[in-house]
Amino acid sequence: VANEKESMYLVSEFANKYLHNALLNTEEGKAIGLTYFKERGFTNDTISKFSLGYSPNSWDAFTSVALGKGYKLEFLEKTGLTIVKEEKQFDRFRGRVMFPIQSMSGRILGFGGRILTNDKKAAKYVNSPESEIYHKSKVLYGIYHAKQAIAKQDNCYLVEGYTDVIQFNQAGIENVVASSGTALTPDQIRLVSRLTKNITVLFDGDAAGLRASIRGIDLILEAGMNVRVCAFPDGEDPDSFAKKTPYDKLVLFLEENAKDFIQFKASLLMKEAKSDPIKKADLIRDMVVSISKIPDRIKQEVYLQECSRIMDISEDVLFNTLAQIDKKDV
Ligand code: CTP
Ligand code: MN
Ligand code: MN
Ligand code: MN
Ligand code: MN
Repeated sequence: VANEKESMYLVSEFANKYLHNALLNTEEGKAIGLTYFKERGFTNDTISKFSLGYSPNSWDAFTSVALGKGYKLEFLEKTGLTIVKEEKQFDRFRGRVMFPIQSMSGRILGFGGRILTNDKKAAKYVNSPESEIYHKSKVLYGIYHAKQAIAKQDNCYLVEGYTDVIQFNQAGIENVVASSGTALTPDQIRLVSRLTKNITVLFDGDAAGLRASIRGIDLILEAGMNVRVCAFPDGEDPDSFAKKTPYDKLVLFLEENAKDFIQFKASLLMKEAKSDPIKKADLIRDMVVSISKIPDRIKQEVYLQECSRIMDISEDVLFNTLAQIDKKDV
């Protein structure tokens, strides 16, 4: 089994080289893939740092080259690079720009491939399937390039997508990783917690991003980590925002808009219905549920005080509510 995993790593690393070369050194890759990345504002340095690639628009261009080089169909299939169906073999990724997904130590685990159009009917991203080397719930895109900066800054920015990570790196902010569209998991948080106890959630400025941020908060608190949330303007994500914002302004925006989770949740209410007592009560309860996830009693108390102050409700009531929630838990 160790040999099997090693064979899967090797074929993935070969695919990475093939796809990167196809982007930079083939007519199709240059005309289509490189043009696409340039339009997104990615520089040559960025493209090589993240080893971005292009998969030719052909049924089996990659698979036949790989087989020709002696890579076994078994491992091409197990990594999902090749799909075998009714005796026929074809490439999973065709006519897409490619984002290799690396482990903490830099090994290639899988790929995300984006279509070049904004055709709403086609899947925007095709990703490698779960495999013996790619466990999606345990991987964070960008961690290989982020790990040093996360430790040094003692903070990790958590974004949703590949391009958010890349655009931030290009802007000079390297302590950033992406959950890649899946719901954040405890294993992903553990990966970060080895490097820092501070996470700043930077999800897309849309309804889905908001929901994901709210789910993420409690998981991060449960892991005993500190969480801040920075909301982006409607319709923006970290990529689109960073692309049009000079570095100094970007840093200032992140500093000024990153709120602790009590402030973040309070600001949601202000938007919804400031004077609706039912909504306000629900939100306060929701805040106390989040506070109940924090393992550290002193931090719980500090957040109860903040909640009391911001929501204008007595600390006693909040304390009793917390006690009730704790009782239900056991
Ligand atoms: N994603 C996915 N499959 C999809 C849509 C999204 O795997 N059909 C994942 C990708 O990892 C993507 C992330 O979820 O990067 C965030 O999705 P979204 O915000 O829709 O995409 P962006 O990263 O913003 O990509 P782009 O800017 O290219 O549209
Ligand atoms: Mn395994
Ligand atoms: Mn989104
Ligand atoms: Mn996005
Ligand atoms: Mn985007």
